[in-house]
Amino acid sequence: MSLNIKRNAFFFLIVCFVAFVVVNAEDLYKYFTWTVSYGNIVPLGVSQHVSILNGIQQRKNSWQDGVYGTNCPIPPGRNFTYTMQVKDQIGSFFYFPSLNFHKAACGFGGIRILSRPQIPVPFPEPSGDYTVLIGDWYTYNNQHLKDLLDQGRRIASPEGILINGRGPNGAFFRVEEGKTYRFRISNVGLQNSLNFRIQGHAMKLVEVEGTHTVQTTYSSLDVHVGQSYSVLVKADQPAKDYYIAVSTRFTSPVLSTTGILYYSNSPGQASGPIPTARGNDIDFSLNQARSIRTNLTASGPRLNPQGSYYYGRNRVTRTIRLANSAGSIPDNLIFGGMRLETSVMVADFRSFVEIVFENNDDTVQSWHLDGYNAFVVGMDIGMWTSDSRRQYNLRDAISCCTIQVRYLHLA
Ligand SMILES: *[C@@H]1O[C@H](CO)[C@@H](O)[C@H](O)[C@H]1NC(C)=O
Ligand SMILES: *[C@@H]1O[C@H](CO)[C@@H](O)[C@H](O)[C@H]1NC(C)=O
Repeated sequence: MSLNIKRNAFFFLIVCFVAFVVVNAEDLYKYFTWTVSYGNIVPLGVSQHVSILNGIQQRKNSWQDGVYGTNCPIPPGRNFTYTMQVKDQIGSFFYFPSLNFHKAACGFGGIRILSRPQIPVPFPEPSGDYTVLIGDWYTYNNQHLKDLLDQGRRIASPEGILINGRGPNGAFFRVEEGKTYRFRISNVGLQNSLNFRIQGHAMKLVEVEGTHTVQTTYSSLDVHVGQSYSVLVKADQPAKDYYIAVSTRFTSPVLSTTGILYYSNSPGQASGPIPTARGNDIDFSLNQARSIRTNLTASGPRLNPQGSYYYGRNRVTRTIRLANSAGSIPDNLIFGGMRLETSVMVADFRSFVEIVFENNDDTVQSWHLDGYNAFVVGMDIGMWTSDSRRQYNLRDAISCCTIQVRYLHLA
């Protein structure tokens, strides 16, 4: 039985469709058809679909955000056209199916929103642009994983990690010696923070979810669930193949996989030690996240510098504190005492709110502000108090849409 499920899951993966979309802001309208289909052996009855465009700001039509409840599912054989304007937004994002755990069955792809040609990008045009979708992968299919959660159980550890839908050494990225390439790395997985690194090569971070960052060089980068990062990699090593390594963060055991960076004139296969991540170290990860800042003088989607918006001077009118934990609900519910409902919090139009995320669990949480960005002004271990505000970065915090919360995180 379990073998059978395994085979189904594998078939599921190989038939799924991954599209890379390039949106050119010069044209008024661009139409893309995303055809989503399933393998034959997948159990019937799970084929309704909606997709979330992770990080895309949907102006004036936020009801099309692909979330069940605001968006109706697309029945089998039917189609739905999202009409949207990507305005004042550039960068690396991705889309994924949002119903019934379909995300566990793949069906996601990268979205690149390019700057208009007249707007300077704060780095030379790279010789190539790669989308790298990394994520944890489960032996069980999406229906089984959903059933587990519906029964109040945790989903098991993943079977492994995939890079662009491929297993160990299945994903290849071709480079030419001496040239520089852009890698847009998104964590499209379900639950694991992933560490990304390339043997013998440094990665210069240039963009996070639409914000051009201070260009810092990293040897390994933590990418939490739902996040997208762009790095520049120069093929400045002796020509051969190199390992690209991806492994889980803060887990025991640590799961790893590799892909290949290969030089066009490579004489041989990748060899030598696969680069290791720096421990399961929370401080390291936290410090890395804090080191990611906005390049205030670079332009974003428009000509004006990203730092021309002084978010630190805005008066905050409301503080929203979101604390959660898996906790437990008593078996004998008091009638009317508790119900399952979408929680709606009200804030005034055009006002500025402070949101505090507090993680009382022992896993990393990833919060996605669907259709919105926020400035990540602080991040710390421990409880938030009003004193924490003194540590806020009110100058060059990054504006992004997906943030990791390990213990405590302020936005
Ligand atoms: C989408 O649905 C409409 C109406 O049901 C149909 O006319 C159209 O051909 C469909 N488009 C695609 C791309 O399947
Ligand atoms: C920020 O962007 C400017 C303008 O494009 C660029 O010249 C500069 O090198 C960048 N600074 C850093 C620290 O990345």
